[in-house]
Amino acid sequence: MTFRQAKPADCAVIREFVCGLTQKSQYQRFFAAVAPPSRGLLAALCGGDARSDIFLALDQAGEVIGHGMAADRIAADGTLVSHLGLVITDSWQLNGVGTALMDLLIRRAAGRGVAAVVMDVLPDNQRMLGMIARRWPRARREYTPDSVLITARIDAGNLASPVARAALGGPRRPAGLRKEPAHAA
Ligand SMILES: CC(C)(COP(=O)(O)OP(=O)(O)OC[C@H]1O[C@@H](n2cnc3c(N)ncnc32)[C@H](O)[C@@H]1OP(=O)(O)O)[C@@H](O)C(=O)NCCC(=O)NCCS
Repeated sequence: MTFRQAKPADCAVIREFVCGLTQKSQYQRFFAAVAPPSRGLLAALCGGDARSDIFLALDQAGEVIGHGMAADRIAADGTLVSHLGLVITDSWQLNGVGTALMDLLIRRAAGRGVAAVVMDVLPDNQRMLGMIARRWPRARREYTPDSVLITARIDAGNLASPVARAALGGPRRPAGLRKEPAHAA
């Protein structure tokens, strides 16, 4: 598995990636069924907004298996915050890709001087809420019937597991990752 920055020329593969997600994953990431993605959504996912830092996770064949983005905004108090969103293709979920991608985005956000990340999560998305809670036990949570809006300050403790650190350190497959699913290309 490798990561690389997304560029506008990736729009076709990102569209294909989104269309390949199950409805559950589409809802968990976008709060709606989005396949096929609208022109506006696709432009945002491909880096149409210069304030977004977008990375793709690729399998050994170069197929897109994950998409993550951090969209920077100036908060009301004048600090730089970044809205984080990520989704891993269903057959690759629970293989450490999301953890590594989240760490990569957080590390890069810290490098840009981002003070806090903001994440909008469905209330029943226990996997994502667990990832966040383990990194930021004291993060601010605002509950609505439809979502949990989490604001969490970035610091060194937010960078997770050795698996994620290994993934960020070089091109080799992180030790904790399972083998590529048999049905993947
Ligand atoms: C949520 C999501 C991004 C996580 O990525 P992933 O690659 O599937 O998950 P990972 O393998 O990295 O594991 C995620 C967490 O679950 C834990 N986990 C992994 N396997 C597990 C298992 N069998 N049982 C319990 N926990 C497990 C990991 O320890 C990790 O937590 P950590 O980062 O605190 O260590 C991914 O499942 C996804 O795309 N879901 C749909 C879209 C979505 O929910 N996006 C988030 C909205 S912003």
